[in-house]
Amino acid sequence: MAPTKAVVADDHLASPAGGKNTPITNTIPISNAQTDIHGLEIWEGTLPIIDLGGLHGPRRSDTIKQLGHACQHYGGFMLKNHGISERLLNGIMSKAREFFHLPEEERMKLYSPDPTSLIRLATGFKDDNQNVFVSRESLKFHCHPVENYVNLWPTNPPSYREVVSEYCVAVKRAEITLLEAVFEGLGMERKSIDQILDNHGQYASLNYYPTCDKSNLGLTFGLRGHTDPTILTMLLPDEVPGLEILQDGDWVPVKPIPNTLIVHVGDVLQGLSNCRYKSLLHRVIVNSEKERLSIASYCYPSNDTQMGPPKELIDDDHPLIYKDYTYEEFYTTMWKQRLPDAARLDSFKVSAA
Ligand code: OGA
Ligand code: NI
Repeated sequence: MAPTKAVVADDHLASPAGGKNTPITNTIPISNAQTDIHGLEIWEGTLPIIDLGGLHGPRRSDTIKQLGHACQHYGGFMLKNHGISERLLNGIMSKAREFFHLPEEERMKLYSPDPTSLIRLATGFKDDNQNVFVSRESLKFHCHPVENYVNLWPTNPPSYREVVSEYCVAVKRAEITLLEAVFEGLGMERKSIDQILDNHGQYASLNYYPTCDKSNLGLTFGLRGHTDPTILTMLLPDEVPGLEILQDGDWVPVKPIPNTLIVHVGDVLQGLSNCRYKSLLHRVIVNSEKERLSIASYCYPSNDTQMGPPKELIDDDHPLIYKDYTYEEFYTTMWKQRLPDAARLDSFKVSAA
């Protein structure tokens, strides 16, 4: 089957690794982590901290429960012990920084306004209707299976292809481990991810947020509030704050934890879970002092995957919310109508028929 071509709007829009990757253990200052009513450890009042290593061993069922609570009540979590080595996390961040520090004409060779391009640079833009500037520059590319795409990637900076492919493979491995646990936690029949998501893909984005003149701060966003049109998004932030999530009506900053990924529930998982899990509304703000980078890996199913919730999730207490639709229908509708956030799933509600 031809690879899925996911479209990710501009302004949207692990197994702990074997082999040479060394698992990472974070030391989180106790004062910054509290516990909520489900027993989840919460980072700075924002998102639960999940230990992926817990899926391998006697804590597996507890970890699956924690994952379920995190997806249900928070729409995301901080992921530690994901199996991606510190060397590789630093390596991809350095490559991304080197790329965005190349001269503009070099970067612009990859520019394309076509959202179906297999690799493309997208630049900041002004939204005249809302009189705001969205400043993110991003390099977006398909990356699973990596050998199908790596030849399209830049050769400058040197070793870009090697480092980025190694990262994409490692983050995909963590994604699969997570998804298996998430589906198991939903009580879905134990099937392989390939059976559920068919020929699933991966799309990555190196995100660059330049510093912003103090006088323009009020009118500039890194990214406006959005949910991701994905199953899950795995985000590696650098050390500069900027990501905010909407919690109880307030935008709350998510401070990065070193060597820890931030995972967002995307629209597709909201649909598949019959709304048990809600996609996370988030945005990026900028500052006048430090540029910021992040690396996002978006996991999405094949075009033909049926996105309606499986029968195991429907009963008297949980009536069917979404009808069956394919991923292709979902993203085509999203892209054509430029629908914001949760509204993207509304046209697939049973009651909308
Ligand atoms: C995204 C996104 C957040 C960040 O790429 O969809 O929301 O912190 N990124 O860069
Ligand atoms: Ni996002």
